[in-house]
Amino acid sequence: MTIQEEIRNLAQTRKAVILAHNYTRGEVQDVADYTGDSLELARKAATVDAEVIVFCGVYFMAETAAILNPGKTVLIPEPSAGCPMADMITGAQVRALKAEHPGAKAVCYVNSTAEVKAECDMCVTSGNAERVMATFGPDEEILFVPDQHLGGHISGLLGRTYTLWPGYCPTHQIITVKGIAEARAAHPGAPVLVHPECAKDVRAAADHALSTGGMCKFARESSEKEIIVGTETGILHRLRKENPEKTFYPVTERMICPNMKKTTLENLRDCLQEMKNVVVVPEPTATQARRAVQAMLAIG
Ligand code: 13P
Ligand code: SF4
Repeated sequence: MTIQEEIRNLAQTRKAVILAHNYTRGEVQDVADYTGDSLELARKAATVDAEVIVFCGVYFMAETAAILNPGKTVLIPEPSAGCPMADMITGAQVRALKAEHPGAKAVCYVNSTAEVKAECDMCVTSGNAERVMATFGPDEEILFVPDQHLGGHISGLLGRTYTLWPGYCPTHQIITVKGIAEARAAHPGAPVLVHPECAKDVRAAADHALSTGGMCKFARESSEKEIIVGTETGILHRLRKENPEKTFYPVTERMICPNMKKTTLENLRDCLQEMKNVVVVPEPTATQARRAVQAMLAIG
């Protein structure tokens, strides 16, 4: 029996659904029930009919699934798969920020810990941030944590000023304006897609700043035959699989999130086999964090 067959058999026995982020290894995406961006996977986690959710991604994503599903068992194949950006702010730091800005609304990017979500009024993902942030009135003061780049991108789109926490993604910092210029020179005419976690000058040098789900949609719907992709290279697997007639070029092959690569077929099989690495978000944090995530899902 192949390891893929072992995993699928175990998933059936355990009544488990396997969710994989677009950045995970190709072989992990291929064995999963659903592959998607943070928003698509959070929505799936909120509605899926399974007793067990195995989250192949990073810890905050599995935590979000656990927050949304108090009655289900959420497993993560490799619990050390963290997100350095999510760890750039603590719950105590959000409390201190709110104390400095009484009356302000605190908004967290989904790339944050449960204790940070518990301090916030609203959560966003890169896939819905513009839509969700547009629901705040022009007079509302906004504190946006932890990603300065996503926050800066959305405030720019909406013509607003937010107080931005200086967090960032180390993987998306690898892309430079020079790298984009080199990719354009190598593939003339191909549009450049980058993730909103990229810095402002990089976003300005690109054609579109999109979530990973937005990139998949663009690739599907666009008539472009060649596309330059500025995000974690794991997404190329899905883009190429879904669009075999199109060619995708990474801005750089060096854009790898080491944590997203920690899920392997072996640790996925082992966690299902042993039902280990259960993600537990303690109370009252889980209940408090659920408000911000459900407020987001209610908007779309
Ligand atoms: P998406 O929600 O666009 O998939 O982004 C998740 C992420 O961690 C990007 O670095
Ligand atoms: Fe976190 Fe960046 Fe990895 Fe996404 S790519 S999980 S933001 S470190």
